Amino acid sequence: MSSLAIEKLTKRFGASVAVDELDLAVREGELVALLGPSGCGKTTTLRMVAGFLPPSSGRVLFDKEDVTRLPAYKRATGMVFQSYALFPHMSAADNVGFGLEMRGLNATERRKKVEDALRLVRLVHLAERLPRELSGGQQQRVALARALVINPRIFLLDEPLSNLDAKLRAEVRLEIRSLQQRLGLTTLMVTHDREEALTMADRLVVMEGGRVRQIGTPRELYDAPKDAFVADFVGRCNILSGRRESETQFRTGSGLLLPVDSATDECKDASAFALRPERITLQTGGADGVQGRLKAVTYMGAQTEYVVAVGAEVLVVVQSTPQANEPLAGLKPDDTVFLHWDRKAPRLVPLALPRV
Ligand SMILES: Nc1ncnc2c1ncn2[C@@H]1O[C@H](COP(=O)(O)OP(=O)(O)O)[C@@H](O)[C@H]1O
Ligand SMILES: [Mg+2]
Repeated sequence: MSSLAIEKLTKRFGASVAVDELDLAVREGELVALLGPSGCGKTTTLRMVAGFLPPSSGRVLFDKEDVTRLPAYKRATGMVFQSYALFPHMSAADNVGFGLEMRGLNATERRKKVEDALRLVRLVHLAERLPRELSGGQQQRVALARALVINPRIFLLDEPLSNLDAKLRAEVRLEIRSLQQRLGLTTLMVTHDREEALTMADRLVVMEGGRVRQIGTPRELYDAPKDAFVADFVGRCNILSGRRESETQFRTGSGLLLPVDSATDECKDASAFALRPERITLQTGGADGVQGRLKAVTYMGAQTEYVVAVGAEVLVVVQSTPQANEPLAGLKPDDTVFLHWDRKAPRLVPLALPRV
């Protein structure tokens, strides 16, 4: 496998800029996910890396070799699409072997490689089936095998799980991640699904409007987002606009004072308070903490979600579901509750909403 570097990569369509001076380095064997809302430039980036789309400016490098002007078929990337893109009239094995035939391998070589690739995705026994005789998850595994069979330098995945139902998605997600790690595939994956990105990627790139908002490990982005857009995009978050009142307090736009630490804002423009719902602890008594009124309780199995009105603001709290005999189990709308959090838990960040 190769490493991948993207330097100041830009794509303009007429007057609009789909990808704007994107810089990114993917190490050999690393899985990096591009995460962002629809239209932020993820697929365009991937197509430029694959060689399907010429950049307006900037460079793409595989192992420091400049491939920017190399046509797609000479780049040896393995690409998997959301739609599988299998040939409907060809068996699984023929779909996998198609690219090898194009590359001029003889039948014996092809058969061996196809079998190896199908074995990787545990589909050898279904090699002769047509795509329509396979489930969605199996079809996507055929597409994976087809991408892997050419020994790609770079593995590219565009929303590979979007067409699968929730249970299959979790299964294929694990399958892709385990293959990627086992084979040490240098992978660039595109997704708008934060759970997919958080669970699969070594590092995430949060994109918005063709630009990078933040790059980091899932944990870095979840725990230390640089702005409110990233905080909100990588997970649920209570985001309240306002400003720092003092060393230990944040004042929201509506005048509510909330406890914060003296050193949580590294930026000058700390115009938002960002706090994850699970970092808040809910209590029914003890007058300390931030007092609120319960608006809604939603049971979600292992967790329960509480919507709490605090002054003119609303905060969402997620807790492990209490046992039936615990005080929290009896809570109902209109009850008074008290919210607690570690002062270091809230991040004070720029509000930085999407550019429109
Ligand atoms: N061939 C094209 N011609 C014109 N505009 C395009 C073309 N492809 C993509 N775009 C525009 O570029 C932007 C980024 O698209 P895309 O990369 O597909 O986003 P994503 O994959 O993040 O949803 C969008 O505004 C889209 O409409
Ligand atoms: Mg896309």
